[in-house]
Amino acid sequence: MKITMSSPDLNDADRQAVINVINTPILSMGKYTADFEKAFCDLTGAKHAVSVNSGTAGLHLCVRAAGIGAGDLVITTPFSFVASTNALLFEGAIPIFVDIDPKTGNINPELVADAAKNVEKYLPRKGVRADGHPPLRAILPVDVFGQPADMDPINAVAREHGLTVIEDSCEALGATYKGKHAGTLGEFGVFAFYPNKQITTGEGGVIITDDDEAAHFMRALRNQGRAPGDTWLQHTHLGYNYRIDEMSAAMGASQMSRLDEILSKREQVAAWYEARLAEIAGVEIPFIEPYTTRTSWFVYVIRFDKKINRDEMAKRLDARGIPVRPYFLPIHLQPYMVEKFGGREGDFPVTEDLGKRGLAIPFSGVMTEEQVDYVCNIIREEVMKS
Ligand SMILES: Cc1ncc(COP(=O)(O)O)c(C=O)c1O
Repeated sequence: MKITMSSPDLNDADRQAVINVINTPILSMGKYTADFEKAFCDLTGAKHAVSVNSGTAGLHLCVRAAGIGAGDLVITTPFSFVASTNALLFEGAIPIFVDIDPKTGNINPELVADAAKNVEKYLPRKGVRADGHPPLRAILPVDVFGQPADMDPINAVAREHGLTVIEDSCEALGATYKGKHAGTLGEFGVFAFYPNKQITTGEGGVIITDDDEAAHFMRALRNQGRAPGDTWLQHTHLGYNYRIDEMSAAMGASQMSRLDEILSKREQVAAWYEARLAEIAGVEIPFIEPYTTRTSWFVYVIRFDKKINRDEMAKRLDARGIPVRPYFLPIHLQPYMVEKFGGREGDFPVTEDLGKRGLAIPFSGVMTEEQVDYVCNIIREEVMKS
């Protein structure tokens, strides 16, 4: 049986939407981009949606719009895809990492509170200014694997200390926290649409915000810094080409029109996995907090008992035709981060522990129950051999 790590969930209408665009002369900044953005306002109730050509670009624009610059300190998580931290590094800001909740893998709000009060304790070993540093500016939590971070206590810390909150919801489109949409929980929220995501545009991202001024600024920055009233060769700001193209936007708008169906299919696959994997001794299944009123399943990450060598298991599963991926390798231990900030093994024990025991197994909304059965049987056999 052929099993893939992930697979987009595209139907004929999604494909037709792209064909419709390429039969017109407008391939960038047209009607489909506007439709795609509107779908996010309709879904989340956000006032503005700004589409871009990746989640990383979206995070970067939020960092610029929040006025975060060189030497500024931002509390964030080392248990994430590197882009959440990279967006800070692009502007010379310094990530203040705090460890995570062992059950969900999301940033630990108690540590966020402590870091906001005692930031000196959390400064990296290297890369900070000898002459002191600007104050803490923001918090950048990540909704890990499609489950929102515990945002109420995080927002309470932000209010107390006057910090901006940028919610990295790149993995959590459609998830809800106490009934509220992921992405709406801070000042800015960002979604991403790489082909392994819940919906895809090939490459793409969307920022949502209620802040009028920030939205106008981000629209200008994504379009080479052209502010309203600028001509094609006039640029008010230092900007980027972060525009999404019309083919991607059309695919995305079509995918958004069936988001609920797409998420429900992923929920079904997660439920099939849960029923089978919960019974295997030595395998832990994902933990969902009661505050998560809807999980938007992005990846399905299991954790092995400490007695099982995850890397060995990954090789054995791969050899049997089951593609798997360790999730996440901690950000503070990535080579460029070690060089810049001097991170070491032992700095964030919970992140490192989950980083050593977690394994993403094949997952998508188009998996069949038979495929899930097949994957689980092989996992069971290999775990029994360990
Ligand atoms: C948590 C997180 N942040 C940011 C990104 C970046 O998104 P993109 O790959 O679209 O740049 C991703 C996705 O890959 C992600 O998982």
